[in-house]
Amino acid sequence: MEEIIFFDTTLRDGEQSPGASMTKDGKVKVAMQLEKLGVNVIEAGFPIASENDFESVKEIARTVTKSTVAGLARAKKVDIDRCGDAIKDAKKPRIHTFMSTSDIHLANQFGIDRETALKISIDAVKQAKNYCNDIEFSPMDATRTEKSYLYRVIESVIDAGATTVNIPDTVGYSTPVEFGQLIKGIKENVPNISQAIISVHCHNDLGLATANSLAAITNGARQVEGTINGIGERAGNASLEEIMMILKTRKDQMGEFKSNVNYTEIYNSSKIVESISGIMVQRNKAIVGKNAFSHESGIHQDGIIKHKSTYEIIDPRTIGIESELVLGKHSGKHAIEKRAKEIGFEIDENQMNCVFTSFKNYADNKKYVTDEELEKIIVQELGIKQNA
Ligand code: KIV
Ligand code: ZN
Repeated sequence: MEEIIFFDTTLRDGEQSPGASMTKDGKVKVAMQLEKLGVNVIEAGFPIASENDFESVKEIARTVTKSTVAGLARAKKVDIDRCGDAIKDAKKPRIHTFMSTSDIHLANQFGIDRETALKISIDAVKQAKNYCNDIEFSPMDATRTEKSYLYRVIESVIDAGATTVNIPDTVGYSTPVEFGQLIKGIKENVPNISQAIISVHCHNDLGLATANSLAAITNGARQVEGTINGIGERAGNASLEEIMMILKTRKDQMGEFKSNVNYTEIYNSSKIVESISGIMVQRNKAIVGKNAFSHESGIHQDGIIKHKSTYEIIDPRTIGIESELVLGKHSGKHAIEKRAKEIGFEIDENQMNCVFTSFKNYADNKKYVTDEELEKIIVQELGIKQNA
């Protein structure tokens, strides 16, 4: 069975979310949790970017033992030397170097031609090889790069020693069919592609980062990059927890892959990243949002009580949490009765009718009804006490 390599860039691209900077200690905590989660590669930072980044990458390289620790470096000698220094104590070190390849970037940002960019890319990979064998190269803005030139860059960096070639949709511009075709084209047109792993790195500007990553896997990518909670530059990166759970839940569509993921650590990972980055997860975020496994409507709650499969496609315990029946104005009798029982009240059918009417009146003006509020309603209506 083929393996999907999960490459986490929460500590690098994720930290590029406005307002997400993390302290060195915070980053080490996140890295340790990512290792528990079972990600294969942790991109720990961009060592040339700041002293904090350098020190954090260094500390993570010393602390993490199972996952590969990668540092990012532009295709420049000074970046690569700094990165090489930062990752040198890692058990499994990787240098990830990148150079723009689209004409838009080359003409407007760098003022250089394609041949010059190609030479810079090759030299960077050769330079990185002085520090470790595991080298990733990214042709930045790959999805807006002319294809035959992109193929040539990829072939040349593999010849120079790149072991992973990462195809970034830097500006989140691609669509699933198009991105899948791009990966297929790379497999078919780069003669030495079998000597490297194809990786993808999708941004979410059009809300397609997860879908594009999956299309890439279907077409031969075997490393997928992303972040926990989907944080990252602008609209963020592909959300790793979504890709992990899609591959697990929809094997019938995606095929069966090996992976190293400890699924029950997904929710913890989300919470730790949330608290350390300060970037809150939206309530309705797939997989890890507060509402992802909450059921409010009476019909849904009734179904869930009878059989979870009615309205849950993932058992929330898989990712390390319990599902929640949220009591509110849409809740039905079954859900209220169940919750009442859980908090210690045995209520017969007649009593339930009284409680239900009173509950509905109360809930009509509220977003949720808490356990304490439900207890008050029951006590007021029935004058009874909880079971011990
Ligand atoms: O989005 C991007 O192109 C990047 C590269 C550094 C891989 O983050
Ligand atoms: Zn990126």
